[in-house]
Amino acid sequence: MLNRMNELHLRPLRGDAEARDCTARLATFGPWRTMGILAEKLFQDLTNPQREVFVAEQAGKIAGVVILQLGGSLDGYIQLLAVFPEFQNRGLGEKIMQGVEEKIFQRSKNVFLCVSSFNMRAQKFYKKLGYQKTGELENFLVAGQNEILMRKTRGPLLEFCAQQ
Ligand SMILES: CC(C)(COP(=O)(O)OP(=O)(O)OC[C@H]1O[C@@H](n2cnc3c(N)ncnc32)[C@H](O)[C@@H]1OP(=O)(O)O)[C@@H](O)C(=O)NCCC(=O)NCCS
Repeated sequence: MLNRMNELHLRPLRGDAEARDCTARLATFGPWRTMGILAEKLFQDLTNPQREVFVAEQAGKIAGVVILQLGGSLDGYIQLLAVFPEFQNRGLGEKIMQGVEEKIFQRSKNVFLCVSSFNMRAQKFYKKLGYQKTGELENFLVAGQNEILMRKTRGPLLEFCAQQ
């Protein structure tokens, strides 16, 4: 019973109230805070109808959030991943990534994401999960900071399309 309570459940974000709640929590930590990204921009990203936004729920509490951009040339792009500070270092980030990869690999051979050049902890986290640096985007979000583009791949894209 306890084990089931502690299971992590990835489900779509529900409505503006939940988006406001996640925005308020995101605004207190993470690379977006370091870069001075405004809460209103985070709220817009969480409520963008062209994104797929999921929350990670554990024992009825929201432990984290992930924003996916599906379609386009970088199909399967993780725009934002956050585990709220009080839930970090318990393996939830890795579980969220497993759930997200399951969704993305159903439609594409690649999962892409960007991580800020100063965010060493997240770089280590993604490397451990099999992501490789693919490029570096200079001054991409804010002047003076680079974004490292990372990819996890299961093979060439056209091989996948040919199977469809
Ligand atoms: C990066 C981030 C998503 C990782 O989430 P997390 O839930 O802390 O990640 P995990 O717990 O799965 O793994 C992190 C560490 O905890 C360890 N860990 C995993 N399960 C554990 C457990 N049961 N008990 C203790 N430690 C554990 C992992 O080994 C890992 O250690 P390492 O850093 O030495 O490799 C989270 O730190 C975060 O939201 N950071 C701020 C936002 C951010 O940087 N997002 C990425 C932007 S691109």
